[in-house]
Amino acid sequence: MKVLVVGSGGREHAIVRALRRSSHTPEILAVPGNAGIAADARVVDGDPLEVARAEAVDLVVVGPEAPLVAGLADRLAEAGVAVFGPSAAAARLEGSKAFAKDVMRAAGVPTAAWSEHTSVDTAMAAITRYPAVLKADGLAAGKGVVIAPDEASARAALEDVLVARRFGEMPVVVEEHLEGEELSLLALCDGERALPMAPARDFKRIGDGDTGPNTGGMGSYSPVAGIDVDDIAARIHQPVVDELRRRGTPFHGVLYAGLMLTADGPKVIEFNVRFGDPETQALLPRLRSDLLDLMLAATRPGGLAGATLEWDDAAAVTVVLASAGYPASSHRGDVIRGVEKAAALRAEITHAGTARDEAGELVTAGGRVLNVTALGVDVRAAREAAYAAADVIEFDGRQMRRDIALKAAEAEASR
Ligand code: AMP
Ligand code: GLY
Repeated sequence: MKVLVVGSGGREHAIVRALRRSSHTPEILAVPGNAGIAADARVVDGDPLEVARAEAVDLVVVGPEAPLVAGLADRLAEAGVAVFGPSAAAARLEGSKAFAKDVMRAAGVPTAAWSEHTSVDTAMAAITRYPAVLKADGLAAGKGVVIAPDEASARAALEDVLVARRFGEMPVVVEEHLEGEELSLLALCDGERALPMAPARDFKRIGDGDTGPNTGGMGSYSPVAGIDVDDIAARIHQPVVDELRRRGTPFHGVLYAGLMLTADGPKVIEFNVRFGDPETQALLPRLRSDLLDLMLAATRPGGLAGATLEWDDAAAVTVVLASAGYPASSHRGDVIRGVEKAAALRAEITHAGTARDEAGELVTAGGRVLNVTALGVDVRAAREAAYAAADVIEFDGRQMRRDIALKAAEAEASR
């Protein structure tokens, strides 16, 4: 069996590692991959469709959202190649906030109230309470979220997007501010059924105590205590899968719900149409079921019927090491030392922004550089092991949060 993984981040490296554990012992290819993936898969160059055809692969796994929104899964399907990942029509759940909100309304899925604006005055008029949530509406708009505490900061943020056009021509969404703990719940979907994975949490801000700007994610852990994933999937994921099927655009792949656990129950902040990064790095090392079997099943309508997921009882914690300047910028070429020593401490190290320089040394090549994941009997043990390993990896300008999964470990201690 031959599998091609599309992407170049820590998420894709974690997927490659999990596929390697499959009982089918697949040959794994990756495009474009990275320096770490190259040790676990055959990294190839070129357009994924061309590679899939030339290599006669049995399955393509698409990691990031951009190629899905652009229709890669459709092109592969037309060419007769099995693909894990949704069609462009279904990927609009992530690509268009208006589409996602319309599907949720039709499916009766709870989410923050919202309205879209192109003028500062109508946007200001739509704000009924502070803090107000303001989002520049477009793909990769993670950086475009502002939680404005008062009128002056709301007006400044709106003028930045709508008058100064910081992100180009882009409307603003005014959204209800949700209160509670956040949760990432991913579900494998076969067009008909949503099979929830273990609950996870990620840490989006650059600084300890959730301070500073948003990033792609600085760490994660799984499981999250006290979460009934079947109940949440029945309220959130399954109605969306049913609605997309009803519209003739069934969802195959991973449906990731970014949720706020409010006093009125879980509400959707956003949908993603692919695995979360860095949630995947904490989830997949705990998965005991065969990921390749599950992915193949998800490509077939109803293929996951009767499937269950087996998880290791251990907890997993992932700590992200980022390069100097992240998230405003990133720094390339800083020599990385200690990765082998860290792995010897029984940590799973996955690569994101790494490369080999001319001398063959491992160097930084992006914002998020490495992910260090460790398992433990509980969250406290897993985080201690993850930090023990992360601490032996060194490079100039290394940034790392010290408080990943800290609250969960403290809560465990008081139970
Ligand atoms: P997003 O890019 O939409 O995932 O938003 C980034 C972060 O902003 C989220 O992880 C939340 O912490 C916060 N956020 C976004 N929307 C809301 C909301 N409606 N209420 C409260 N916090 C929010
Ligand atoms: N961890 C957030 C995301 O993958 O979008």
